[in-house]
Amino acid sequence: MTELSAFIEGMPKAELHMHIEGSLEPELMFDLAARNEIELPFKSVEEVRAAYQFTELQDFLDIYYQGMNVLITEQDFYDLTWAYLTKIHAQNVIHTEIFFDPQGHTDRGIAFKTVIDGISRALKDGEEKLGITSGLIMCFLRHLSEESALETLESALDHKDQIIGVGLDSSELGFPPAGFQRAFEKAKSEGFLLVAHAGEEGPPDYVRDALDLLKIDRLDHGNRALEDDSLVDRLVSEQMALTVCPLSNYKLAGVTDMRQHPIAKMLDLGLKATVNSDDPAYFGGYMNENYLAITDSLGLSKDQILTLARNGFDASFCIQERKQAMQDQLDKYAAEYNVG
Ligand code: HPA
Ligand code: ZN
Repeated sequence: MTELSAFIEGMPKAELHMHIEGSLEPELMFDLAARNEIELPFKSVEEVRAAYQFTELQDFLDIYYQGMNVLITEQDFYDLTWAYLTKIHAQNVIHTEIFFDPQGHTDRGIAFKTVIDGISRALKDGEEKLGITSGLIMCFLRHLSEESALETLESALDHKDQIIGVGLDSSELGFPPAGFQRAFEKAKSEGFLLVAHAGEEGPPDYVRDALDLLKIDRLDHGNRALEDDSLVDRLVSEQMALTVCPLSNYKLAGVTDMRQHPIAKMLDLGLKATVNSDDPAYFGGYMNENYLAITDSLGLSKDQILTLARNGFDASFCIQERKQAMQDQLDKYAAEYNVG
């Protein structure tokens, strides 16, 4: 292991963009399929992994929605979340804000409460047993109607203490933010923080609309904002954080050569970029693999790596006291390496 990879692996980190259903590793998929007596269209773990070849977002989403069919009981959602937490604990992730897609489950007849109770119970154990603080963000599927999003929001009102925010994910092109303005307004009025995927495949206008119409507090992806200088200026001046997902961008072919990944340019422009795994079981890695990939391909320095980690803590939705404690932990770590 090089000194730089040891630095990345030991560094305290926050993850702000990770779909819990996207952390379903093929091994667990098989275990849950057996437990729930569900037949999978794959014969082996290797066959599942071999199917993970994507040329665009939709290819991935088709297989991602198919994968979640094995999640049935509260214990399944607990096991899924617990597996993710133990994985990131080993990678020195100390805070995580995770997405879940309730409509991906309620549309299959699984109760909202089953889903959220399983995830929340694991998050609580994650804090008590692993010291990982966390928040849960409920995403609306943008290929479904705004009425469906509003119904989902209604179900969430009984679980307000378990959810910190609302997001927007799934197929981006053809499903612009404007279609979800009412749902986001209502979510805001109920006290939820707001995020949305925009500019992953969609044009800069989708990013602008996520800011103006949805009034987001943080931007998920945002890569295509770089095509519009005035939008970049605005994101910089508003200090809007971007949850960038390097391996996801590569696997979904938004970036075809990791040496061209825009995250270094984002830092140079003054954008508040963060590093995240998106769907780690599908895209080839968790937080450390994402940091290592950009560091290798872009030749990032320790200072740049630290900036990305600091941005992660700063852009989190934690209370100020926890943010400060995490920044202090990072400062102490940097001092051990004589950087920062
Ligand atoms: N983009 C949009 N929707 C998603 C993703 C993604 O990368 N992962 C899970 N849902
Ligand atoms: Zn995502």
